Amino acid sequence: MPDNITKSKIKHHFNKAYKTYDAYCTVQNNASQRALELLMPHSSYFEVIADFACGTGESTLKLIKQIRHEKCYAVDFSDKLLSIAQNKLLFPVNCILSDFDEKLFPDDFLDLVFCNMGLQWSLALEKTLILLNRYLTKSGYFVFSVPVSGNFPEIRAQFKSVLFSPADIIRVLNKSGFKIVDHYSYKHIQSFQSHYQALKSLQALGANFSPGLRHDNRGLKKINVREVFVEECILPQLTYCIGIYLCQKASL
Ligand SMILES: C[S@@+](CC[C@H](N)C(=O)[O-])C[C@H]1O[C@@H](n2cnc3c(N)ncnc32)[C@H](O)[C@@H]1O
Repeated sequence: MPDNITKSKIKHHFNKAYKTYDAYCTVQNNASQRALELLMPHSSYFEVIADFACGTGESTLKLIKQIRHEKCYAVDFSDKLLSIAQNKLLFPVNCILSDFDEKLFPDDFLDLVFCNMGLQWSLALEKTLILLNRYLTKSGYFVFSVPVSGNFPEIRAQFKSVLFSPADIIRVLNKSGFKIVDHYSYKHIQSFQSHYQALKSLQALGANFSPGLRHDNRGLKKINVREVFVEECILPQLTYCIGIYLCQKASL
């Protein structure tokens, strides 16, 4: 599938989730808190900051409450999620509708780049990271969380995307001009009342489209829910495997 079609499908699924995202994003909120906690011992003041893939602005809210700054940008390509963010984030946050793969800021412009649970949607991670790196000032910081390999062991391989391992992510970060300051991975198990509810949570978050999969993304009502889960998965739960990375722009 050409990248522009894949991206419009990703965007479509997130846009469809605009009314439900905030009620379901506990794992995402926990990840953004962890990412900021990894950053704060290093510095809690940055002049110009940006939250890429800000969604409904939940991650941006945490960012601006915990990091002192002069100017903040919140960027997302899903117009419906961004309009929710716009209502939550008042001046001086500047919400911008943009793809994180499109050049948006001048080089050496941002002192901190933040991205919470967004980079798994990049179709070319190295390219995305190189662009984010260009925006950073000398020794600027980049902190992000991202689902990593091993995510959702309850779901059969043909129904989920292939994710990078932590070692792969470090390799791509180094190739893209970052040095890694700190990182770790953790598991977050979410329990549900039924397997159907588990899948519904992914739909409510807009995360029910998987680029590169051969299955046809049928609506929840049309699928056999048990077919999506591995046989041994008796308990209705989803195990998120998430990596948190703190990096700095490497000097040339
Ligand atoms: C799981 S949500 C995370 C939202 C927010 N950061 C949070 O923590 O709640 C992932 C977000 O990535 C955005 N996204 C995916 N691909 C994108 C792209 N190419 N450019 C900009 N945003 C993108 C989606 O629109 C969605 O809002």
